[in-house]
Amino acid sequence: MQRAEFGRIANQLKIKIDATLDAMHATILEREKQKALELEALDVTLPGNRRRIGHRHPLTIVRKEIEDIFVSMGYSVEDGPEVENTYYNFEALNFPPGHPARDPRDTFYVGESVILRTHTSPVQVRTMEKTRPPVRIICPGRVFRRDAFDPTHSPMFHQVECLVVDEGITFADLKGTLERFHKEFFGEKTKTRLRPSFFPFVEPGAEVDVSCVFCDGAGCRICKGTGWIEVMGSGMVHPNLYGFVNYDADKLTGFAFGGGIERYAMLKYNINDLQLFFQNDMRFLEQF
Ligand code: DAH
Repeated sequence: MQRAEFGRIANQLKIKIDATLDAMHATILEREKQKALELEALDVTLPGNRRRIGHRHPLTIVRKEIEDIFVSMGYSVEDGPEVENTYYNFEALNFPPGHPARDPRDTFYVGESVILRTHTSPVQVRTMEKTRPPVRIICPGRVFRRDAFDPTHSPMFHQVECLVVDEGITFADLKGTLERFHKEFFGEKTKTRLRPSFFPFVEPGAEVDVSCVFCDGAGCRICKGTGWIEVMGSGMVHPNLYGFVNYDADKLTGFAFGGGIERYAMLKYNINDLQLFFQNDMRFLEQF
């Protein structure tokens, strides 16, 4: 009797312990599940992680814009070497032997007759050498001069060159092309003006001004009250150049112009210091 009683109680106890263990197990499992849910919770109202993507340098933006305008007018984009022979940089562009631009104080010499090109104009000669007219090209690229850095100078900067050669090309074509380009680039109200000037590889030559983009030509501090800003050199291709590339100087005429890409970027974005383009300061670059 005592023994049967003990067995019954022991059995009841076992059932109770089992039930308690099961309950505890269930509680722990539930707690674990809650914890996992909390950890994996996704708050769709939180701001996302901003991914920083790169973007184009302002000079690249402006170069591409210039290229697009000329490509839409039927021009092709040419390239030329930055390390250039004095023949292409000077001789074949009709520079006389003692011209001051050849001075080693202005030009980086790599060898006796090898230099860093001082302008993009040598690409005019290289293009005519390898193609027959009609020629209709632009050439953007780096150029080098022995200038110290200041707000308007840099030993390396960028130019864009243009050359058109065909039968019957006139000074009016030059003026019309420059006018169209400046209206596309700066806006329809922009005016273009040509002033007589001299460059060895054109005749006649002309300096190119645009109506001041800051005051629309009214006269302000930036255009020094004149209403005009100088942007390029230009002219009708000098007949002597055709002699260097076996073009028929009696049949063909052409125009050329060239100017600094930094200058166009400075005018477009109202930047007053050329050095900003080359300092890689993110606070500047991120604005474009
Ligand atoms: N190459 C000249 C310079 O660097 C600019 C220039 C003037 C280019 C007249 C031309 C031109 O094509 O016709 O100062």
